[in-house]
Amino acid sequence: LGRDFRYFRSLPSTNTHIKKLDADDVEPGMVVLTDNQTGGRGQYDRNWISEAGQNLTFSMVFKPQTSDGFHTLTLACALALVEQVESISEEPCTKIKWPNDVLVNGKKVAGLLTEAVFIGNRPARLVIGIGLNVNQQEYAAQLSEKATSLQIEMEKQIAREELLSNLLARIEHKYRLWHQNQAKLLIHINRKIDGYGQWVGLKVNGAMKQDSYKLLGINETGRLLLLNHEGGIESFSHEQIRIVT
Ligand code: BTN
Repeated sequence: LGRDFRYFRSLPSTNTHIKKLDADDVEPGMVVLTDNQTGGRGQYDRNWISEAGQNLTFSMVFKPQTSDGFHTLTLACALALVEQVESISEEPCTKIKWPNDVLVNGKKVAGLLTEAVFIGNRPARLVIGIGLNVNQQEYAAQLSEKATSLQIEMEKQIAREELLSNLLARIEHKYRLWHQNQAKLLIHINRKIDGYGQWVGLKVNGAMKQDSYKLLGINETGRLLLLNHEGGIESFSHEQIRIVT
């Protein structure tokens, strides 16, 4: 990962940049990084706003042999992020917020955006973009209750170059595990999912459910498994539900 490493001082979006490249110009393992992402995109058509020169905004190219399990690959990257944060300091509580966020002390520190590029109806490559808030010190009022950075939570400045190279090594390791031993990977991911093993509230298609559900973790397709009060197990995709912990 990162043997073909492309740095841009400024770019609208690292995900969009890779998606627009000619297939011949894209090798698996390519990493595109920018220090000033001006039109960052998030899930559900949201924006990803990141202060220039303070954080990490980058995207990676994967060409997995199988097109199954794309969702679990995103979560494998989220797990690498969690472990990387924990390697700096065990003190803050770091969790995966299913399906694509990383929380530190209950606030969002990173988001992942996975997009498949299709040739015909075959996914030709997978672009996984990560926005990690590193040294940003302030967030706009409406964001500050939900968003944070490593610097805010750990009260220290973090060297971004070292952080990125360690993180890429961890992601590479998880990618290997994703190919070799999904079952083991899922155990590690599930342990880090916010609310795992707990009774949580659910919003299904926007409407809050009255009953709580016990969060059992994800299965090999990335769907979330939940136990209801009657003892039945229900599975949901990320388009359908939001967890309320
Ligand atoms: C989310 O939280 O909804 C996902 C945010 C993903 C942001 C990253 S930053 C690098 C890459 N390029 C983008 O335009 N978005 C992703």
